Amino acid sequence: MIENSLILGIESSCDETAAAVVRAGSHPLSNVVASQMALHANYGGVVPELASREHLRNIVLVVREALTRASAAAGHPVTFADLDAIAVTEGPGLAGALLVGITYAKALAYGLDKPLIAVNHLEGHIHAVLMEAREASATPMELPLLALVVSGGHTHLYLAQHPHQQQGSALPDQTAAPWRYRNVGRTVDDAAGEAYDKVAKLLGLGYPGGPWIDVLAPHGNPRAVPFNFAQIKPRPHREGISLPNKKSPTEPREGNTTFDFSFSGIKTAVLRYTQTHQMAEAIEARRRAFAANPTLKPSSPESVALCDPQTLDLIASFQYAVVGNLLRQTFAAAEAFGAHGLVVSGGVSANSELRRRFQAEADRRGLPVAFPSLALSTDNAAMIAAAAWPKFLSRSFAPEDLSATPQLRLG
Ligand code: KG4
Ligand code: ZN
Repeated sequence: MIENSLILGIESSCDETAAAVVRAGSHPLSNVVASQMALHANYGGVVPELASREHLRNIVLVVREALTRASAAAGHPVTFADLDAIAVTEGPGLAGALLVGITYAKALAYGLDKPLIAVNHLEGHIHAVLMEAREASATPMELPLLALVVSGGHTHLYLAQHPHQQQGSALPDQTAAPWRYRNVGRTVDDAAGEAYDKVAKLLGLGYPGGPWIDVLAPHGNPRAVPFNFAQIKPRPHREGISLPNKKSPTEPREGNTTFDFSFSGIKTAVLRYTQTHQMAEAIEARRRAFAANPTLKPSSPESVALCDPQTLDLIASFQYAVVGNLLRQTFAAAEAFGAHGLVVSGGVSANSELRRRFQAEADRRGLPVAFPSLALSTDNAAMIAAAAWPKFLSRSFAPEDLSATPQLRLG
């Protein structure tokens, strides 16, 4: 029966080697992630060559573990022969890293004579939320949805629509039609997660920076340093997004408005602040202290103690400004495009202040908002198998010559 179909998802676009077995696009039986975080932490960022090598080392074990855990969850053995399709991330991501997953998935699909499905990583992040929202369905989401995908590599706003569903109707069941996406905003420079990682690095904190800043920010005053986003750079390389005309939705409204983001300015502003406030020595001492004690976690009391009040204020103010910017642009776009619900996904969606402020603003406006569970916020393969499900139903399989598309776009 189709509702018992199993898809093995494989994800290797950046620094996580991941595999998951998902039933009918909705029920994860396993979700295994081998993180390379500790390896890249030594360099303060992902080193592409090391990432590919680690994926090669891990992929076979991770897939095997996904089958073992799926067997335990199902209560009977789940073997390669029981799979109905193999789904793999096609892009965007690091070319060498993507190729490891794709080559492995192609070989597996060929050897097992099973269909291969290519998935856009960004669509995967959106489906992580849709999959869980369908399971929970406490507040039914209606279409169209506005999705903010915010991670270390991406900050994008997508208007998501399903062709079989009318405007204002509930989230579709898993039907055999591809979702349609319209990219209505994106960062013109750094991704938000990249800004978190760079600011944490320049303040002498650990890698990746998001969880550090998330945990340390409540110890500082978010209004101590007034950052402003007034001077968002114009977008020279892309035309503006036309807003829908409310009276005649098919006609664009006069004038172009964009819902773009820019995060490189605030990173530079933080750097300048540390220079004008003579913080270099304290930062260097902190860097040395963390290097001498690499097991320290962001929540350890020693970690907070290693940050002086000025640094904690700077961290809190940085996060307050970034979350505020994400919130303003997202809700403005939701209003402009008449979205009936919001989906926030990607690594930065794990951020506690972001979740709190988005939820409060959504409640104020009576707009449903959904986030993934923490396990599905960052890169994983359950989201790839979930996004593959409508393609499986419509038999949209990948060609035999599938290759990595590092700059793959959505919408
Ligand atoms: O989705 P993801 O695992 O990989 C990409 O596709 O980029 O996102 C990783 C990013 C990193 O920049 C990391 O610092 C950020 O997500 N991140 C967070 C938090 N947890 C992870 N940013 C802010 N707060 C967090 N709690
Ligand atoms: Zn991602």
